[in-house]
Amino acid sequence: QASDEELTGRILAAKEALGERLVILGHFYQRDEVVRFADFVGDSFQLANAALTRQEAEYIVFCGVHFMAETADILSTDEQQVILPNLAAGCSMADMADESSVEECWEQLMELYGDEPTAEGLAPVIPVTYMNCSAALKAFVGRHGGIVCTSSNASTVLEWAFERGQRVLFFPDQHLGRNTAKAMGVPLELMPMWNPRKPLGGNDAASLTDARVILWHGFCSVHKRFNPAQIERARAEFPGVRVIVHPECPMEVVDAADEAGSTDYIQKAIAAAPHGSTFAIGTEINMVNRLAAQYPQHHIFCLDPVICPCSTMYRIHPGYLAWVLEALVRGEVPNRITVAPEVATDARIALERMLAARP
Ligand code: 13P
Ligand code: SF4
Repeated sequence: QASDEELTGRILAAKEALGERLVILGHFYQRDEVVRFADFVGDSFQLANAALTRQEAEYIVFCGVHFMAETADILSTDEQQVILPNLAAGCSMADMADESSVEECWEQLMELYGDEPTAEGLAPVIPVTYMNCSAALKAFVGRHGGIVCTSSNASTVLEWAFERGQRVLFFPDQHLGRNTAKAMGVPLELMPMWNPRKPLGGNDAASLTDARVILWHGFCSVHKRFNPAQIERARAEFPGVRVIVHPECPMEVVDAADEAGSTDYIQKAIAAAPHGSTFAIGTEINMVNRLAAQYPQHHIFCLDPVICPCSTMYRIHPGYLAWVLEALVRGEVPNRITVAPEVATDARIALERMLAARP
């Protein structure tokens, strides 16, 4: 097995050989040993933008998870090739919504609501998908007048959807959907959860009729680990601590925290804080540890005392990065992520609606 030093040398040499032909994108949750080679580090929204704007690079090596690499392929030019260093780097939340289940749900909803717009021109349902889903689902949303969101623009996107529809079908993350809609004033009783095992008759048709937001049952296994007791303990131990959590956390956790925001929000809040601040953070451990090292003037710790990495993000090891980069130098393109053109066309519509809906 190659030593860290050897891998570093190999990665740097390959990067140099590829020069401007290569851009390495890294998500905030990537381990330090990978992030340090990235040309651009960001949250999922910023990385989608980076894929759109870095058109000079022939190869986009994506240090993140599969749905992010698919998004990069959709938004990049036809000449660019997107590479995911380890194909096993998926997202368990994205896997919780598959195309056929969402199609089935949609058909049932159309049966219940009809597919005609109201006199005011509002569609009966607007589908909204979190970025953390397959390209096929982004395409589904694009075809049905819907839009993609990330954790940094979910409320802007929901507003966009409410301007165009009577209600929203939000998938796959129930927590982001619930937390965002709740913060916008949507009562919890108007947010029923779709039960795929109990199609229409088994779901409460009355609550579906009144619904503003129909939630999917997906969740993130990393953010699900946080709970209000951890926040209570942090407050007892460090009076004045500022608790910031990711909106993929359950509602009780977001309610107990001081703030909730995307990975970019968390890092900006820390960067702008007065010297000597104390932060308890509810998100992935690699990012929290990096922030703690980057801002030694603050006390920054993770709410979860037991380690909580995103195991799939962690599958991008520097060894895989070295392997793909060296292959590119030799003119081979391993682990290329491609989205079929007919899927990409519709998915791009949904992504462009998001990019236009900013912030
Ligand atoms: P961000 O949009 O905050 O980068 O989050 C992506 C993600 O997968 C969080 O679990
Ligand atoms: Fe998916 Fe959760 Fe990992 Fe984000 S942290 S990539 S939502 S499993």
